[in-house]
Amino acid sequence: IVRAGDPVLRRVAAPVTDPTAPDIAELVRDMEASLAEAGGIGLAAPQIGVSERVILISVPATRMTDDPEDGPLALTALVNPALTPIGDDRAVAAEGCLSIPGLRGEVERWIRVRLTAVTPEGWAVDTVMAGMRARVLQHEVDHLDGILYLDRMTDFTRFGYVEELIEADMREVPPRPSPATQEDVPHQEA
Ligand code: NI
Repeated sequence: IVRAGDPVLRRVAAPVTDPTAPDIAELVRDMEASLAEAGGIGLAAPQIGVSERVILISVPATRMTDDPEDGPLALTALVNPALTPIGDDRAVAAEGCLSIPGLRGEVERWIRVRLTAVTPEGWAVDTVMAGMRARVLQHEVDHLDGILYLDRMTDFTRFGYVEELIEADMREVPPRPSPATQEDVPHQEA
């Protein structure tokens, strides 16, 4: 998988003229193999070095938001995906990217989007996606326009390496008060 710094990630990817062409089916198979190996929930063709408008998305139940319109999504390939925001609602949540491994940052995204696309089988898609589905779609379609999630970030105070951020989150949990521990802890000298 191509990492940040490779110019292919900054290029605007070309629309696919024939979504059902055999070379697109082959591209999708290559992307599926890369995604399975890397263990992500979305991938855009530029991330394997191909500047064409093809993405993969899969949302496991464990990654869903609590939005009632959100839901798990089996691995889906979309050709020439286009998104239109629905309403004004936006939400901030942490994102990572297989092209920026090990790091995580908070990004504001539209909560609800209309998705139009074509599948590699030639089916037209026209649907509304919300929650994590909408977030992953926005992240992947950004890749097709040469945009990384870093470009969307406004607050870098919660940006960093996943391991350190998880450790920091755990430290933030206040210790359970108990008389025993309070008495047992020796007085700290300043
Ligand atoms: Ni990404």
